[in-house]
Amino acid sequence: MIWLIILKTVYFALPAYIANMAPVLVAKPKLFNWLNYPIDMGKTWGNKPILGKGKTWRGLIIGTLAAMAVAGLQSLLYHYESFRQISVINFNETSFILFGFLAGMGALLGDILKSFIKRRINISSGRPWPIADQLDFIFGFILATWWLVRPSWEIIAALVVLTIILHPLTNIIGYALKIKKVWW
Ligand code: CTP
Ligand code: MG
Repeated sequence: MIWLIILKTVYFALPAYIANMAPVLVAKPKLFNWLNYPIDMGKTWGNKPILGKGKTWRGLIIGTLAAMAVAGLQSLLYHYESFRQISVINFNETSFILFGFLAGMGALLGDILKSFIKRRINISSGRPWPIADQLDFIFGFILATWWLVRPSWEIIAALVVLTIILHPLTNIIGYALKIKKVWW
C-alpha cells in the first residue's frame, strides 16, 4: 500500500521533477545557449537583483518543454493497464499538453518565485535556503495543476516527504558528476 502510494506519487510528479532538473542539465553542456538570457534582464530592485542570473529563459522554456515531453510519454503509456493503475491523471480525459505545460510551468514559476523572495531577504544567487529550495517547485506544480487534478492528501504528503529526501540525493549525485557546482 505504502509502496503503491510512493510509486503513484513519483509517477504523478515526474513531469515536475524533470522540469526542475532540466535547467541544470542543459546549462552545464551549454545547450540552447541562444536562450540563455536572465529573465530579469540583469535588472535590480533596491540594489538587489530581481531574480538573479540563475533564472534564465532557457531554464523556463526547456524545463516546460521537457515536462510536456514526459507527460506525452505518460499519455502513451496510459494505454497499458499497469500504467493506468499507477497514474493519478486520467489521460483519456486530460490533455497531456495541458497537464505537461501546467506541471512544468508551475514547477518553474514556483522556483522563480522562491528566487524572488531569496533576493528580497538578502540570500544571493546559488546560496542555500533550506526547505524552500527543495519544495518551491512542488508547490508550484500542485498549485498550477490544481484545477485539473486534486491529488489525495496521501499523495501530497508523500510528495513533500519524498522530495525532501530525494532532492538532496539528486543534488549530491549532480555534484559528484560535476554537473552542479554546489552540493545543495
Ligand atoms: N536554471 C536556469 N533557469 C531557471 C532555473 C534554473 O537557467 N529558470 C539553471 C541555472 O544555471 C541555475 C541552475 O539551473 O544556476 C540551478 O538552479 P537553482 O538551484 O534553482 O538556481 P540557483 O542558481 O541556485 O539560484 P537561486 O539562489 O535563485 O535559487
Ligand atoms: Mg539553488
